[in-house]
Amino acid sequence: MIDLSTLAPPAPAAEPNDATPKRVWFHTFGCQMNEYDTGKMRAQLRIDGYQDAAAPDEADLILLNTCSIREKAQVKVDSALGHYRRLKRLGQPVVIGVAGCVAQQEGQALLTRYPDLDLVFGPDGVPHVRKLVEEARSGRRVLDTDFLDLEAYPFVSDLDPSVDGIGAFVTIQKGCDNKCTFCIVPATRGAEASRPSTQVIDEVRGLVGKGVQEITLIGQNVNSYGLKTPGEVTFAQLLYEVAAVPGVSRIRYTTSHPRDMGDDVVAAYRDLPALASHLHLPVQSGSSAVLRRMKRFYTREHYLDVVNKLRAARPDLALTTDVIVGFPGETDDDFDATMALLDEAQFVTSFSFKYSQRPDTAALRLKDPVPDDVASERLSRWQVAQRVRSLAWTRGHEDQEVEVIIEGPSRHEPTVLCGRTSGNLMVNFPGDPSLVGRSALVRVTRGFTNTARGELIA
Ligand code: 5AD
Ligand code: SF4
Repeated sequence: MIDLSTLAPPAPAAEPNDATPKRVWFHTFGCQMNEYDTGKMRAQLRIDGYQDAAAPDEADLILLNTCSIREKAQVKVDSALGHYRRLKRLGQPVVIGVAGCVAQQEGQALLTRYPDLDLVFGPDGVPHVRKLVEEARSGRRVLDTDFLDLEAYPFVSDLDPSVDGIGAFVTIQKGCDNKCTFCIVPATRGAEASRPSTQVIDEVRGLVGKGVQEITLIGQNVNSYGLKTPGEVTFAQLLYEVAAVPGVSRIRYTTSHPRDMGDDVVAAYRDLPALASHLHLPVQSGSSAVLRRMKRFYTREHYLDVVNKLRAARPDLALTTDVIVGFPGETDDDFDATMALLDEAQFVTSFSFKYSQRPDTAALRLKDPVPDDVASERLSRWQVAQRVRSLAWTRGHEDQEVEVIIEGPSRHEPTVLCGRTSGNLMVNFPGDPSLVGRSALVRVTRGFTNTARGELIA
């Protein structure tokens, strides 16, 4: 009989299982979800001895975590990949992988197009990144674009070892069940699954233990959190649970869908001082006719109604949004309705895009495309008006005292500190770097388009 007591116990999962140092270079494109997924891959590969490479030409493994939301994003991936493949052709023994939404969308076509690519996997490959990398290192070309079972989706619990600041993301769901007609995300990230709230809270606690104070909950449509899972809390209840974790000073979240923004979430703005006075609420268009063709399932009036309720609960709420111009069938009147919304809803900043045709999306079948020059002209009209409004917002802070959490010294001027207000305004002011991590009262002296200058009061 074997004496089990003489056998070494299995290495704990979090211990590196390979002493040889290996270097990984991550190149992340796109949204916060991708940044977060990269952090989770970093955490898992650390178990196998991978440290971050200082530069791509020192890496044993290069992973591109890609975005396909618009055509431009995809073009950037192709050019980066060209650069990394050259390193390999010059003799660097490196495994190159493409992860994320472009990988999911193109799959085998990427491997065919790029013969020196070793590994292609979609967002659902992230939990298995160790196995996928190991297979690729053994010389096989690996493709994994299968979606995982939603019932027991293996959300990764290891913390990103590179988190060392004031703020961190925590994923609360994956995928999206909506079918906005312009959007490729449901095809690349699959159906929605909510992460168990116990896991969310554990991750928040772990991050607070690393000095994080500001938590941003992320998901494609956070308002529908928990609704498909019997017994799970709602999104509003999750906000209260996160706010109750000792050490959490601020909570943000993204992304919200205006159709699903319930009164319980509005009430949280009344009840929870830790809930930031900033909300990103993508409207996409100010025309109800366009919203119908986008299958957003709300009207301009509903959107404004939600905004009014939120402002009644939190008068200083800073609202930001996403806008798409040039969607098929968008008339001058439709676009004027979007422009008018800028003033009515008072967006402090926005991300604005020209509509971009995406493969396998319903909008491809819509008639009346908007000519590119018209779309470009609309985009620049929106952006000019937005800059004016953004500047008015930051200038509106001049001579006021605001509370900020100090995130760090400025990258360009080490004697200047950067602090963020609850409304998401970044204020730069002279101060001692030992104050990083503290809350401070700052008087704003000058507002610029996206940031402000100030002086420390206390
Ligand atoms: N074209 C242009 N913008 C798009 N977005 C999503 N899909 C497209 C597309 N096909 C924008 C939306 C979304 C943001 C993340 O990207 O505004 O809210
Ligand atoms: Fe795309 Fe709409 Fe889902 Fe957002 S809610 S990810 S825009 S389908």
